[in-house]
Amino acid sequence: MCGILGYLGNKNGVPLVHEGLKALSYRGYDSWGIAAIRGKETIIQKEVGDISKCAPMDAHSPIVIGHTRWATHGGVTDNNAHPHTNNDGTISVVHNGIIENYHLLKEALLEEGYTFTSETDTEVIPHLIDFYMKRGKTFKDAFARTLKDLKGSYAILAMHALEGIHFARNGSPLILGIGDNEMFVSSDIPSFLPHTKRIITLEDGDYGSLTPLAITNKGKPVKREESLAHWDLEVAKKGTYEHFMLKEIEEQPLTIRKALNQPCELIVKATQLMDTSTIIFVGCGTSYNACSIALTHFVHAGKQAMTVLGSEFESVLPYINNKTLLIAVSQSGETADVIDSIKSAQKKGAKVISIVNSPSSTIARLADLTIPMNCGPELCVLSTKSCTSQIAILMMLAFALQKKDIGLLKEAADTALHVIKQTKPQMQQLARKIANERSMFVIGRKSLAHVAREAALKIKEVSYIHAEGMPAGELKHGTIAVVCDGLPVIVFADNQTRAHTTSNAMEVKARGAFVIGIDSKPSHAYDYHISIPDIEEATPLIALLPVQLLSYYLALERKCDPDKPRNLAKSVTVR
Ligand code: AGP
Repeated sequence: MCGILGYLGNKNGVPLVHEGLKALSYRGYDSWGIAAIRGKETIIQKEVGDISKCAPMDAHSPIVIGHTRWATHGGVTDNNAHPHTNNDGTISVVHNGIIENYHLLKEALLEEGYTFTSETDTEVIPHLIDFYMKRGKTFKDAFARTLKDLKGSYAILAMHALEGIHFARNGSPLILGIGDNEMFVSSDIPSFLPHTKRIITLEDGDYGSLTPLAITNKGKPVKREESLAHWDLEVAKKGTYEHFMLKEIEEQPLTIRKALNQPCELIVKATQLMDTSTIIFVGCGTSYNACSIALTHFVHAGKQAMTVLGSEFESVLPYINNKTLLIAVSQSGETADVIDSIKSAQKKGAKVISIVNSPSSTIARLADLTIPMNCGPELCVLSTKSCTSQIAILMMLAFALQKKDIGLLKEAADTALHVIKQTKPQMQQLARKIANERSMFVIGRKSLAHVAREAALKIKEVSYIHAEGMPAGELKHGTIAVVCDGLPVIVFADNQTRAHTTSNAMEVKARGAFVIGIDSKPSHAYDYHISIPDIEEATPLIALLPVQLLSYYLALERKCDPDKPRNLAKSVTVR
């Protein structure tokens, strides 16, 4: 969480970093800030709120760092916004991650007479560099010495008028962009994509300086391979859309197809790895829901398989051995809970397949085999197209185990186009009808129970309406007590589950609920029917689409920003 960006070159870096931070604001948007070198002086602009609504300061500088924040230590205030500086303002620092031992470091620095102006963990860094410089070290050596004091995860940029920008990576992503007579260093590629596609992905433990480019790890100079970013700049833009969320929802007919378009050898290798005694799927949030939706297909393929949340991974550690395959699913490839799970499973001998959208991400680099989602940058904080890509790939793997043709999944990509077109006006109308509700429930059975969970997550994170997704058969074991007059209950049903699910729908209808059925067939249980085709096992892939649209329109009705919901960040790099 948090995005950092540095520029060193022959252009004015201030508007350039300001623009780049907008592309990073999916990583956090509580506040933002820029520090720029002007002569021997550092000038700083910091503001609370959305960077896209603010203009950059009127300054010219070829050496600039910037930050967009998701608050961890300290509230959302100007003072807590990065960059942070030493007391005389000569050293400025931006940081993504958490310095776990900052309390101890802060106490020691306070005793040395340093004054702090923020509540952040980050502020110890410029003071520590200053501390070591005052004891005779160069900026470069003081920076390297400071890193030894820090415990925790970080990507750091430190800037000094005479020394340029120095960087360090340990547990948070950091990528170099190499342009013509200019260098970028950033948490993610889209921030510098308009300027260069040449990248170097730094490894944990790397630190160094931008000009001349020097990378060190464990005290020794290292060379990191340069490669070309495969991001398409046009995909990273909104085009004619007002929000990335709607654009990304509507991209799904194409992105499902791209997800299924994997080289044969890759799927063969994955199938060989799956020939282990147990498969454990790990993910968080939507990625976890995608795993749960697909799980049943692996069980039907005769595999012993289970899903586990990244944050709860420790509870399954006793099961893991060298016959376990971990399938780690993550859009960003940087989710800390998933990275921790992979590392602890690997220590016990497990092999790892990753399904990620960013092949240069930490999770991809840790895995034995990576299947790329190929859905292009997903810039809305909500996962939409990445979710259906994950489900499509997971189902394709399950089909490969059973030597089944994937025609049905390809059909889902075509059907998705039809479903989006047909249900869009209906979802707009439904959103207007239920936008003022305070709570709703979403139910389904089998895979559709997990679709219900994902649907509820979409509704609550973007419209802030409380929504709970659960297996339809569980309602009667307690939750039905909450059902009252007019409460919206969204019901997912298909040919396999309709009989029992519509009985559950009738039970809530009898208690006054407003029942919204997402089903290929109408039912007297439904007060409002959204018709989607039944495409057998692939139905979950398309069932999600109407609720993604509903969530989007609920957000608009309630004047919420669909791309940047409050309190959230796209890439969750904290534990
Ligand atoms: C859902 O809309 C969120 N974006 C969130 O739940 C997300 O799926 C989760 O944080 C995991 O992210 P990842 O896929 O990048 O690992």
